Amino acid sequence: MSNLKAPVEPFRIKTVERIKMTGRRERENILQKAGYNVFNIPAEKVFIDLLTDSGTAAMSDNQWAGLMTGDESYAGAKNFFHLEATVKNIFCFKHVIPTHQGRAAERILFEGLVKKGDFVPNNIHFDTTRANVEVRGARAVDLVIDEAYDPDTIHPFKGNLDVDKLKKFIEKKGPKKIPLVMMTITNNSGGGQPVSVKNVKEVNQVCQQHKIPLFFDACRFAENAYFIKKREKGFEKKSVLEIAQEIFSYGQGATMSAKKDALVNIGGFITLDDDQLAEKLKSQLVLSEGFTTYGGLAGRDLEAIARGLEEVLEEDYLEYRINQVAYLGQLLDEAGVPILRPVGGHAVYLLADRFLPHIPRHQFPGWALTVALYREAGIRAVEIGGVMFAHKDEKTGQEIFPALELVRLAIPRRVYTSAHLEYVAEALANLYKNRERVRGLRIVRESQYLRHFTIRMEEL
Ligand code: F0G
Repeated sequence: MSNLKAPVEPFRIKTVERIKMTGRRERENILQKAGYNVFNIPAEKVFIDLLTDSGTAAMSDNQWAGLMTGDESYAGAKNFFHLEATVKNIFCFKHVIPTHQGRAAERILFEGLVKKGDFVPNNIHFDTTRANVEVRGARAVDLVIDEAYDPDTIHPFKGNLDVDKLKKFIEKKGPKKIPLVMMTITNNSGGGQPVSVKNVKEVNQVCQQHKIPLFFDACRFAENAYFIKKREKGFEKKSVLEIAQEIFSYGQGATMSAKKDALVNIGGFITLDDDQLAEKLKSQLVLSEGFTTYGGLAGRDLEAIARGLEEVLEEDYLEYRINQVAYLGQLLDEAGVPILRPVGGHAVYLLADRFLPHIPRHQFPGWALTVALYREAGIRAVEIGGVMFAHKDEKTGQEIFPALELVRLAIPRRVYTSAHLEYVAEALANLYKNRERVRGLRIVRESQYLRHFTIRMEEL
């Protein structure tokens, strides 16, 4: 018998937003019109939206109040200085460069550092990070520990970068071809799994030996720090803030999508120590994002980010957050639905190839599961598998599929209650019982980069 308990929310609800269930026939039409791509579905036609945890957080009363203090001066808005001080307190780097979101931070950083023919190692690159490296003619290389690719292995820090693989890679390619090493915390594309302080320290040692800067892709740094507090020896008594500060002390900079752990709907930044590089990045910033104290954001946005970064480190919030995601994972596990283990920080990942064993990889089982989940229950999830991450063999043109075929149920921060998650678990349990009805798909139209956003499909 189940004795699962939903975590208690450490907040109460002051404003609500109506959501509406659609009819089944309506959803069928919507899917057809959308080319069987859930990115093309109008959000109003989604009942529970687990497409992403990015930019979907509910802001607090404190953040909303902060919006009214927005200083919309072109240069030197007071909110920039608040943001700068907050970021410096957590990340402890010298320069803070705001950007309109994470991928802008990536693009600008890579324009400053990465050349054609270079290699950028990471535990696993997120799709925009990979694309921003590869569009410059460089190669994005994933060096996560092997355990990350085994969805059944329980490992407390399954996001760790494999230090031996890194050493060998540097030996093989030479440090001159490696302008930076990145670590994604938590490792989104590998299941939202955390990275340990020990691992960061070791990676940093290797990087220092070869004078390669280490940067963090820090979108979910607070969730990562909370896992460290719970799982890594010696950190039980440290505050999440102290843990975050320690992590960043082993690197030279970070890119951040504030749309995740800064609890806002838009925003990002780059933070780093290197004065010369910072100057270079700032001149890129003015070309495309805006002046150095606003980087494509309104003053009020800067304020909301600063306040969000303070709130995300409140430990009762993080405890609830991590437990809410774990709760959905447990409900699914009890229903026999195959999920990646352990459950990550921001999402539960379904193992689509096990969920739909009758659909071969080239008919995109993960994608098929996202279509079925919308059709059955109005729930939107995202495929992280063959459509998002396959690459074409340069010689044969054949698609090479990633090791894992996942569907991510990303949980927006402070948005859905436990009852919503129970609805999701029940819908998936039902779908699992009738899984043989789900059909594979074939591609009708696709684009060269990040094809999942615009691809059109047809059911077989
Ligand atoms: N890095 C990671 C690890 C991410 O998860 C994301 C975004 C980015 C960088 C880019 O940030 O969206 O602000 O430009 N991830 C979202 C997601 C889109 O759904 O996982 P952005």
